[in-house]
Amino acid sequence: MQSVNPCSSLVNMLDTRNTLLLSVPLLVLSVSAFVEELDDTFLKTKGDDDIWLIEFYAPWCTVCEQLDPVWHQIGSELKSLGSPVNVGKTDAMESKDLTKEFKVRNLPTIIMLKKDVKYNYSGPKTKDGIMEFADRVSGPLVRHLGSVQLFHHVKSRHDVMIVYVGATSPLKGNFTSIAELLIVHTFFFSASRDVLPKEVSLPSLPAVVIFKDGTYFTFNEERDGDLQSWINRERFPNYSQIDGYTLYAMGESGKLVVLALGEEKSLSAESLRYKSLVEKVSTDYKEVYSRTFYFGFMKGSEYIDGLVMGELSVPTFIVVNLSNDGFFLPPGAVQTERHLLDFLNGVLDGSIQGQGGNSIDLRAQRLFYNIKVTLKVTFIKSPVYCCFLISLPLLVVGVLIHLCRKKLPASANEDDGALLAPSLRRRRKLTDKKSD
Ligand SMILES: *[C@@H]1O[C@H](CO)[C@@H](O)[C@H](O)[C@H]1NC(C)=O
Ligand SMILES: *[C@@H]1O[C@H](CO)[C@@H](O)[C@H](O)[C@H]1NC(C)=O
Repeated sequence: MQSVNPCSSLVNMLDTRNTLLLSVPLLVLSVSAFVEELDDTFLKTKGDDDIWLIEFYAPWCTVCEQLDPVWHQIGSELKSLGSPVNVGKTDAMESKDLTKEFKVRNLPTIIMLKKDVKYNYSGPKTKDGIMEFADRVSGPLVRHLGSVQLFHHVKSRHDVMIVYVGATSPLKGNFTSIAELLIVHTFFFSASRDVLPKEVSLPSLPAVVIFKDGTYFTFNEERDGDLQSWINRERFPNYSQIDGYTLYAMGESGKLVVLALGEEKSLSAESLRYKSLVEKVSTDYKEVYSRTFYFGFMKGSEYIDGLVMGELSVPTFIVVNLSNDGFFLPPGAVQTERHLLDFLNGVLDGSIQGQGGNSIDLRAQRLFYNIKVTLKVTFIKSPVYCCFLISLPLLVVGVLIHLCRKKLPASANEDDGALLAPSLRRRRKLTDKKSD
C-alpha cells in the first residue's frame, strides 16, 4: 500500500503530535543502559534461554508514561542485583509482530518471557509488585526447601504456602505443570517429609499440602477434585486485607467473598469494628464457611462502587460473587456477630436476593458508569489536563479506529482501554473475563 490512504496520513499526524508532546520527558528518560528498546527483530535475535521482562507501551498512553520512571528503576535494580532478567520495552504501535505474538490487548502490558513461555503480569503497576513478579517467575517453577530452617523461614514470609511433599512421582509431574500455569500468582515449593514439622500428619506420600491460617490442608483427590482447581480455590488466606487486584484474582477461586468496606484513608472506629467482626467470624466459623467464602477487609469502596454502579456509604458489608459479578447487601444494619451470620446464611439459602450480574446489558451499563466516574475524577483533579489528555487523543484515536478498522485491526484492539485509568481497566477485565 502506498501512503495515499487516509490511515497512514492520520498515523503520521498522530506520531508527529505525540513526538512534540512527549519529546521533553522522553529525552530525559530514554537514555538508560538498563532498559532495552525492542522491535520486531527481537524474537529472532534473543537467546533461547534468555529471560525477558517486557513492557508494551504507546506514546499516547498516559499510564505508560507514568510507568516509565518505575520501569527504568526496575531495570537498574534488577541489573544491580545480578538478576538474570533482561528488561525491555517496546512501542506497540511500531512492533506489530511482537504485539501480535504476545496477544497484547491493553496498554501498558507487562509480560515475562522465559524459555519461550509467556507469563502475563496482572498485579498493581508498582515497582514492588513488578519486582516480586519478576523474581517469582524467573526462578524455578518449584522451589526446593532443603532444610527445616529454610522451611520455617519461607513459612514466616508467606501467608499461604503450597508444598509438594515426597519423592519424584506422577503427582509431582502434575504439580509442576500446574506451577507453570499459576506461578504468575503464587510460589510453589517442594520438601521431603522430614523437613516438615512433626505435628503435620500426612495420610500418605506423596502429598500436596497448603499451609495457611495457622493450619494446613492436605489434598485429597476424591474429596477435592482435580489438583489445579483445588489450588486455585485454596491459594488465598481465609481472611486478608484485600485490594482490587487481589479481589479480581480471587474470581478464579469460585468462592464468594465477604467484605467489610472501610474508609480509604483514616479508619473510623465503626470501620475498625466491622473489620474485627469479619475477621472474628472468619476464624470462629472457619469449619462452616471456609469452603464457600473468603473473608476480607477493603479500604475504600471505589472498586466495589464500580461493580454495584453506585456509591456505597462506608463502613458496610457486602458479599460479592466474582463468578458472575453479582453481589448481596445486608437487608438491615449489621451490628452484631449474629447479624453477620444471618446475612451469610441468607446468602447461602437464597433468602437474600442477589443483585448485579454479568448480562450484556449490565456489563455495558457498568462500562459507562466507570467511564463516567473516571472522567469525573480526572476532571476534578485537573480540568485542563483532563480535556487535553483525554479528549484530544480520544478524538483522534476514535477517528483513527473508525477510518482504519479494516486496515489496522490489530491497533484498533490495542487502543482499547489504553486511555482509561488502571482501576477502570481492572473492572473491565473483571467483566470481560466472564464472557469466555
Ligand atoms: C495427573 O493429572 C491427570 C490429568 O489432569 C490425572 O488424570 C492424573 O490422575 C493425575 N495424576 C496424579 C498422580 O495425580
Ligand atoms: C455465583 O455465580 C455462579 C456463576 O454464575 C453461580 O453458579 C452461583 O450460584 C452464584 N452463587 C450465589 C450464591 O449466587
